[in-house]
Amino acid sequence: VLFAHPAYRASRINRALASAVRDLPGVRFRDLLESYPDFFIDVAREQELLRGARLLVLQHPMYWYGAPAIFKQWIDEVLTRGFAYGSGGTALHGKDLLQVVSTGAPAEDYRREGVHRYALAELLRPFEQVARFCGMSYLRPLVVQGAHLMSREDIETHAGRYRRFLAGYPATRPAPVGLGELWEP
Ligand SMILES: Cc1cc2nc3c(=O)[nH]c(=O)nc-3n(C[C@H](O)[C@H](O)[C@H](O)COP(=O)(O)O)c2cc1C
Repeated sequence: VLFAHPAYRASRINRALASAVRDLPGVRFRDLLESYPDFFIDVAREQELLRGARLLVLQHPMYWYGAPAIFKQWIDEVLTRGFAYGSGGTALHGKDLLQVVSTGAPAEDYRREGVHRYALAELLRPFEQVARFCGMSYLRPLVVQGAHLMSREDIETHAGRYRRFLAGYPATRPAPVGLGELWEP
């Protein structure tokens, strides 16, 4: 699990989600901003860890219709030609990618009539296509919406869902998102 939250101290959702999975056997939970506060990513180490994983989870709050900046840096630096794509770039082939995303806004804001206009499935396309380009299966994301108003109880429900998913993986593996599919959270 690659995790990052630039304002972790103020986090409710991602903190609960992280606590629910970080100690699971078989799960390697890593906080990117803790490892790389200066954004100097150890590419060789990241690639080594990726080789040993079957499932890559990207867990983050939605920041301006994407992920916090460290994820972009990580993708830019780690997914190199010859490793992730291009000639000989087969290291990620056959692996799964799951995004675990929280949004401040409620689900109804992610519609044409809503303030955010586009479905999450559309806004997260770059991640989906990164996965596809690298030969990975992009699984239907796990989404927690309306984070600002969510009750403690609802947060725990989502955290439990996340934990059960990872504890049971790969048996819990959902069908990958089809090309152009507009999945609903
Ligand atoms: C810089 C920044 C950008 C954000 N962009 C979005 C956004 O595009 N859509 C959205 O629904 N919420 C957005 N939010 C709200 C966060 O997604 C929300 O606070 C977070 O998911 C709540 O999870 P947490 O309790 O772990 O912090 C943004 C917050 C910040 C600080």
